[in-house]
Amino acid sequence: METKSIATRIQNSGLFRTQGLIGGKWVDAYDGKTIKVNNPATGEIIAEVPYMGKRETNDAISSAYDAFNSWSKLTAAERSKYLREWYDLLMTHKEELAQLITLEQGKPLKDAMGEVTYGADFIEFFSEEAKRVYGDVIPATSSDRRLVVLKQPVGVVGAITPWNFPLAMITRKVGPALACGCTVVIKPSEFTPLTALAAAELALQAGIPQGVVNVVMGNAPDIGEALLSSTQVRKITFTGSTAVGKKLMAGAAGTVKKVSLELGGNAPCLVFDDADLDVAVKGTLAAKFRNSGQTCVCANRILVQEGIYEKFADAFLKAVQNLQVGDGFTEGVVQGPLINEAAVKKVESFVQDAISKGAKVLLGGKRHSLGLTFYEPTVVSDVKNEMLLAKEEVFGPVAPLLQFKTEEEAIRIANDTNAGLAAYIFTNNVQRTWRVSEALEYGLVGVNEGLISTEVAPFGGVKQSGLGREGSKYGIDEYLELKYVCFGDMNRK
Ligand code: SIN
Repeated sequence: METKSIATRIQNSGLFRTQGLIGGKWVDAYDGKTIKVNNPATGEIIAEVPYMGKRETNDAISSAYDAFNSWSKLTAAERSKYLREWYDLLMTHKEELAQLITLEQGKPLKDAMGEVTYGADFIEFFSEEAKRVYGDVIPATSSDRRLVVLKQPVGVVGAITPWNFPLAMITRKVGPALACGCTVVIKPSEFTPLTALAAAELALQAGIPQGVVNVVMGNAPDIGEALLSSTQVRKITFTGSTAVGKKLMAGAAGTVKKVSLELGGNAPCLVFDDADLDVAVKGTLAAKFRNSGQTCVCANRILVQEGIYEKFADAFLKAVQNLQVGDGFTEGVVQGPLINEAAVKKVESFVQDAISKGAKVLLGGKRHSLGLTFYEPTVVSDVKNEMLLAKEEVFGPVAPLLQFKTEEEAIRIANDTNAGLAAYIFTNNVQRTWRVSEALEYGLVGVNEGLISTEVAPFGGVKQSGLGREGSKYGIDEYLELKYVCFGDMNRK
């Protein structure tokens, strides 16, 4: 399908929004500047969106601040109904949203459909969770007192989201924020703003009052600075690179804001001799090649025990050979392009570094003949800890194989990193599953499973992979403040 005809179809649905959303109004950048959004699979320009900065962000913050007053005072049940309506609309427009995701991000349409469901599920889950924000009564220390703990929304939230999940990383933040009474200023990635704008349009259609959801995009440093320096913004939630996360954390110190950070990973995938080969290959393939390797939880280092190494490498290679690369709108394609040229250059430099240090390319290892930002699904063996491929997140379709001898060695290698987001283990030994899961310094562990993200479980990392958890019953706490209220003089008649 052609970019233009897909864009026209989405335009006809009313979801093709190309302006920012401030206080319920669709607006251009105040100086008229725009930024182009392109389809990474074809290089075609899909749209131009406003290149906004400080002034627009400050207005979006003011709108969110004003809206907080009334939105936070609604009952939980009222907010829940709005969110449920938004969920229903997201699901009604699943196909158009998925097409937008494929168009601007490049992932295969089937995966994009999966992302819409995943993303909408956060809204549904938090529409339910809205009604379960309980406080506490503490046994008092004297008979004339009553001690109560209230949970209240933090206030205006700045949500800075990445391009790899243009919808789900927004709903995972905005769902819990809105559920407990916060209002938001969203800054989606400049590469994928159209999905965010379509989701915001549906929030308006769901009746969510003006100013509760605002979207600005464009000059990332200026927008970030405006969000960080505002005393009206009480929380920053971010998904993206560790480097940017550190800057945001430092920047938030000036106004002592809460921060939730979901940062980079360096996921180890441990395949033990006693693993079921088919399960291990299927799980590793899913953990490595989801979204062309462009997720923070993608397996980054595949550590295989020496006894199963040859068999695993053979079977894995065959499976990777079958991955069809192409435009995400083409039937059967499971690997789309990388997001941009910089992403391809990074992958190339990591592979070159590994080759120069003695690694062997078993499959791929170069740009795909389709050109643009397509890269061949790649398997590299003889990878060592000191190579970039093992030390840093490659964020691309490259599977580095490393060999280990013992469980202790595997755990030591797996934990020898500053990252700590996701890890995977494949083994049929029940005791080992517990032992290794407990020993891994990671926020998420998949046991005999390569796809573990869900709205009902807590998502987040340890060490430099981040702070806080998203999704699940724990995710809403990130948007709440505890207030202790002491009632005195209670025995007076
Ligand atoms: C991410 O890559 O940041 C999110 C991946 C997921 O939700 O599974």
